[in-house]
Amino acid sequence: MIEFIGDKKLFHLHTPDVSWVLWLKNDEMNKPELLMLYAGMHLDDPASALHVQENEGASFDSLRQILPYACPTQGRGDYREAMAAAADETGQCLTELFYVDHYIMKGKLPLEGLPATYTEDEAEATTLKIRLRDDLTGLTVELLYTLFEESGALALSAKYINDGEATLTLRRAGSACLTLPGRYSMLHLHGGWAKERQIEVVPPARLKREIASSRGASGHEHNPFAAFLRGAVTENSGECLGVSLVYSGSFSIVCEENAYDTTRVVAGFEPGSFSWRLEPGKSLQAPECVCVYSDKGLNGMSHVYHRLYRERLCRGKWRDRERPILINNWEATYFDFDHKKLLKIARAAAKCGIELFVLDDGWFGRRDGDTCSLGDWTPDTRKLPQGLGKLSEEMNALGLMFGLWFEPEMVSPDSELYRAHPDWCLHVPGRRRTTARNQLILDLSLPQVQEYLIDAVGSVLSSARISYVKWDMNRNFKEAGSSLLLDGREGETAHRYILGVYRVMEALTGAFPDVLFEGCSGGGGRFDPGMLYYMPQIWTSDDSDAVERIGIQYGTSLVYPASAMGAHVSASPNHQVSRVTSLKTRGDVALGGNFGYELDLSKLSDEELDEIRAQVKTVKALRRTTMKGEFTRLLSPWEGNVAAWQFADGERLILCAYRVLNRPNAAPTVIRLSSVPEGLYRLSDGKTVSAGDLMHAGLRVDFPRGDFASSVIVLERVF
Ligand code: DGJ
Repeated sequence: MIEFIGDKKLFHLHTPDVSWVLWLKNDEMNKPELLMLYAGMHLDDPASALHVQENEGASFDSLRQILPYACPTQGRGDYREAMAAAADETGQCLTELFYVDHYIMKGKLPLEGLPATYTEDEAEATTLKIRLRDDLTGLTVELLYTLFEESGALALSAKYINDGEATLTLRRAGSACLTLPGRYSMLHLHGGWAKERQIEVVPPARLKREIASSRGASGHEHNPFAAFLRGAVTENSGECLGVSLVYSGSFSIVCEENAYDTTRVVAGFEPGSFSWRLEPGKSLQAPECVCVYSDKGLNGMSHVYHRLYRERLCRGKWRDRERPILINNWEATYFDFDHKKLLKIARAAAKCGIELFVLDDGWFGRRDGDTCSLGDWTPDTRKLPQGLGKLSEEMNALGLMFGLWFEPEMVSPDSELYRAHPDWCLHVPGRRRTTARNQLILDLSLPQVQEYLIDAVGSVLSSARISYVKWDMNRNFKEAGSSLLLDGREGETAHRYILGVYRVMEALTGAFPDVLFEGCSGGGGRFDPGMLYYMPQIWTSDDSDAVERIGIQYGTSLVYPASAMGAHVSASPNHQVSRVTSLKTRGDVALGGNFGYELDLSKLSDEELDEIRAQVKTVKALRRTTMKGEFTRLLSPWEGNVAAWQFADGERLILCAYRVLNRPNAAPTVIRLSSVPEGLYRLSDGKTVSAGDLMHAGLRVDFPRGDFASSVIVLERVF
């Protein structure tokens, strides 16, 4: 519920568990400014949070340096990270934002051109819209705060409108700002190619901590997410606040702590590569930022994100459906395949009960390697003489759906498309066009490029029975200029590019509602909430080694639901790290996400195929729980030799445990489960055990002998 307490000028956004408090405080000239006073456990009286303004220590110079502004600006004695900065035509960048009005409504508003969480019934959320304005320049900022009534999650966004008479240049146009009292550790997910979303916790420090990307994509290096931890926080205890940007482009999340024990967090566009010219009457919508407070540790926070993102960010037919078990030919064949070879793998897959065949890179143009043909989306008749139509029919005849890889945003210099339209790629006139993986990036801010892609990809999807698309993206920005933006708008390229990507994705997913889309970017280089709005699953990492994957999936689960994480059983020795692991361990790890295979099944022995058949049967029986049940982390791979997580959906409990190294004379492994729905659970040997005992006494887990071992225990709820 959202209340405005008029006499105290307080906004109280609250559920039985959580409170967010905003306050209109008059400044020294009696003009009302908007502060965000509080984010945390439910308050009986929001006025209890008013004491944050009473800090006498800050009397030197400026009280502004402690006040928790909801939309702080530059040049007014705040000194900390600003959320909004608009320069006038002389370059003067002082902005003063004062409250104009507010409006409280049921439900949630969509954000124009951008992905965002949504409601299906307006009772699910309440929205507060507050307008602030700078009277001198006419800059108006429309702040939206949507409270999800069940979970207490808060979706924040900001729209910047030029209501003045002269053009303004936005140098900053943040999505959200929270200024929290106290000191916080900052947990974030960092990484690189094939090692995405590793967990790091940076202790409180009186300086700026920033995670950011200026790559044009959210990137492998930093995920657009951070959690702020107050004191000691474990998976199941302690207070934390998650900040997650629903955006796929260059971004920044800055955390700044000052001498007065205030911690400010500003999230939004990456300021270094951003500026935006705003003519009179024009507006810019900044991306949404979803904040989740938990007093039940990191799992408490993740549970809220998982459900919200799975059910109210992902969309479309596949949102609630069990996802097909797929076989992808990439690690089986790379570029070296033809119709016959693909069918051989498909036949073996069909016999194992696999449901979807995905043809990866190399089916178009003359693509025998990664040096050519991106942009030429016509089948290579040397490899596929009967085309995609025949191939998909034959797959269907085997009982398999058929899926296809694309990398729509890219162009190879050696391609028909590039020869016809050399100016369609991002470039800076007079500078060289540096390739990465031998490719350039199409300028998706150009409407003609967007139209070309909608048409080219759409034509292929209409040409055969294609049920799935893997949408890849394998390089980041360099020399990223747009021919559309040469007149002083260069700082708009990164965001306009992403707006173009979103427009193309919206058009294609809308035109092909039955197709299951999976995102990808050199593995998990664009694994973000923005993508999930268009594609309910994303390839998690190009590292398909089971042991590496435990950490990657564990880190990814801080924010993202298991239903979003593509996880495949690949060959052993593994292609990235040469590690040898059992088929069982590889399957047990992939069970933690969207299950599939990525190896040449036609080369496996009968025993291995039998094992795969059994694995597929198990996954089909369990996937209702792994896709929709509550996922809880139990033991971290970053902290010990045994890692574990569980799924629980009220009917069934699945405990997944992984032991990296075998040790002599080791103590038995006993794992205490967590957040188990009340009831009695039956183990496979018929014994029953209560939810309480599972959480307090735990379960003993026996692993097969040897290194890289795993164990999955399934318990059915009896009542
Ligand atoms: C990167 C992806 O992550 C891989 O799975 C594969 O599709 C290759 N690209 C193909 O080029």
